[in-house]
Amino acid sequence: MHRRALIAAIALTLALAACGKKEEAPPPEAKAPASETPAAPPPAAPAAETAANPLVAAGEAKFRTVCAVCHGQRAEGMGNYPRLAGLTSDEIRSKLLDYRAGKQMGPLTAIMAATAKDLSDEDIEALAAYIPTIGR
Ligand code: HEC
Repeated sequence: MHRRALIAAIALTLALAACGKKEEAPPPEAKAPASETPAAPPPAAPAAETAANPLVAAGEAKFRTVCAVCHGQRAEGMGNYPRLAGLTSDEIRSKLLDYRAGKQMGPLTAIMAATAKDLSDEDIEALAAYIPTIGR
């Protein structure tokens, strides 16, 4: 009997100790969201715009990997490679479709057509969505 009472007492003590620990836990947890909140606001406006529009994000990825080498990271143009910044979505879309279709455009059509022939309709839509956002 005594032994059982002792075991029960130990079990109760452990249970209380566990409870005590649980009660102590909430304050640090409650602090966590508060410390995360100030870190969240800083994201820059262009990043937020890109994240909000997957088409723009896809266009940016394509532009940086394929187009920027000739037209410049900011689409500012380089030498014989024309500036694209300032063109509207419609202008970019129709020109890319024309280059892809093999239409004779400017004196350096062949150079641009070689790139345009590998663009899918989705690529063209994404690029038409992204390029006008450059510099905004
Ligand atoms: C190898 C270099 C090169 C690459 C890569 C390239 N371009 Fe071009 N792009 C040119 C050249 C050169 C012209 C001018 C062609 C002409 O004389 O018609 C041009 C013209 C254009 C035009 C027409 C500009 C205007 O004002 O008429 C658009 C739009 C364009 N490129 C978009 C793109 C996009 C989007 C990409 C990426 C998918 C790309 N280019 C990749 C060289 C390149």
